[in-house]
Amino acid sequence: MSYITSPAFEKKGYVVLDAYDQAADPQEWLNLQYVDWKSSGDTRWAPLASAFGEMECNGFWNHTPPRTDKDGVWVQANVDKAPILKARAEEPGANVGRCRVIELQPNDYAGAIYNLHQDDNNRLNPDGTGWIVRSFFNLSDDPDSVLILREDRFDPETEVRIPLPAGSQVVVDTQRFWHAVWHTGPLPRYSLISSWTSGPELDAYIQKYHGASQPNNPPLDQAIIDDAQFQMKRRLAERAATLAAQGKKDHAPKDPEA
Ligand SMILES: [Fe+2]
Repeated sequence: MSYITSPAFEKKGYVVLDAYDQAADPQEWLNLQYVDWKSSGDTRWAPLASAFGEMECNGFWNHTPPRTDKDGVWVQANVDKAPILKARAEEPGANVGRCRVIELQPNDYAGAIYNLHQDDNNRLNPDGTGWIVRSFFNLSDDPDSVLILREDRFDPETEVRIPLPAGSQVVVDTQRFWHAVWHTGPLPRYSLISSWTSGPELDAYIQKYHGASQPNNPPLDQAIIDDAQFQMKRRLAERAATLAAQGKKDHAPKDPEA
């Protein structure tokens, strides 16, 4: 398969952009209509673009006809309430697939590690076209919360932790990384998540906002990491045993969200 990818992702697989002045904007996300959607962690979702403009969040490949995560249709009732969020998703000029605001309740590091997953957003993506990546724009101010990325699901040495103050902007190859958010709370965290197609438009946008990998992780006590690794493996073993007892096969979660 040979997709069009962005050189900005070649080395590290993600970029942090210049921070956005979130405080200058109205809190549009508080007025949106949210729907329940099974995801990693305790979440609700407000769709801004969906497969057919309906108020739902399902993968485009679960619709008829099935297609990849491109050409999202704006959900009128929500974009009417969030013109700035829509404009931000459209700013690069890249194709927009699913576009949603996530509301995530507080969790802990061990719970986030357990929820690590890879996205499946390039399912049915035609060979030779642009690779789909995702942007995460933090709307609420959560400087102590982090977006966790791991090349290897079980290896904390591969972990990147990106702090999420209001206005933080990260673009991630979410099919490459295992990812989840550790949200310390106490209030819910809100983030605008958009599927974008790689290509010259996205490259120019990343360049304009000085996309780069972050030099260092915020510190985290080794004992917390060790404990989370232990809990993650125990919970995964318990889940596998439960499913085996039911005669079902265990598999890694696919395409829930961060
Ligand atoms: Fe995800």
